[in-house]
Amino acid sequence: MPHLGRGIGVCQHSADQNLHELPLADLDQRDNTRLQWTRVNDLPDFVYFNHSIHVRKGVGCATCHGRVDKMPLMYQEAPLTMTWCLDCHRNPAQYVRPRDQVYNMAWERPSGDPDLGKRLVEEYKIGSVEQLTSCSTCHR
Ligand code: HEC
Ligand code: HEC
Ligand code: HEC
Repeated sequence: MPHLGRGIGVCQHSADQNLHELPLADLDQRDNTRLQWTRVNDLPDFVYFNHSIHVRKGVGCATCHGRVDKMPLMYQEAPLTMTWCLDCHRNPAQYVRPRDQVYNMAWERPSGDPDLGKRLVEEYKIGSVEQLTSCSTCHR
């Protein structure tokens, strides 16, 4: 297994390129096998997390991981606390983007379209705040 010391290329490759080429349906399984060795993010076991649902609903990689393309080594951008998850689950419209932009590290919310988030939440049928903040959504 490669370790972080092997460097930049390996790390960016995994975060950026390999996953980029995967069909979304494969993301979870590939994450688990390919990416074990870069556990810079690590949620406790009692938390349920699933990449593909987020990506399918228009949450960009960079929204949670930051600009990994600009980081010399991928480090933990977001705190992975419950508050962090809930901030978004309470107000997804503020964070979601068009699905075809989830891998785009440089995407910015268009300033001339304040309702974009709201429209996407409807279009992607994102659940209610009650549902998204209910304990059993993340603790199963
Ligand atoms: C909603 C937030 C969110 C989004 C969007 C997201 N991730 Fe993650 N990602 C996480 C969390 C949380 C973990 C840690 C999971 C764990 O510890 O079980 C993680 C782990 C990873 C890991 C494993 C790294 C490690 O240190 O273990 C990689 C690689 C990764 N994500 C890549 C991506 C890519 C590529 C995308 C875009 C297609 C993406 N992620 C989108 C939250 C997100
Ligand atoms: C930037 C926004 C964002 C962040 C951060 C985020 N989520 Fe989500 N999450 C979403 C959206 C959007 C959905 C899709 C909800 C839907 O389709 O109803 C979702 C769905 C989920 C689901 C599936 C819900 C279901 O109905 O099955 C789980 C579980 C989940 N998130 C856990 C987490 C955890 C745990 C974290 C923190 C480590 C996290 N999320 C961080 C936006 C986010
Ligand atoms: C959107 C996902 C999400 C939802 C919804 C959620 N949690 Fe959490 N919870 C997390 C994450 C991620 C952690 C681990 C990180 C942390 O401790 O902040 C956590 C940690 C915890 C912990 C352990 C805290 C500690 O200090 O070790 C408890 C207890 C907990 N949650 C209870 C709840 C209860 C009760 C609810 C419902 C009111 C709830 N959670 C809803 C994501 C969620």
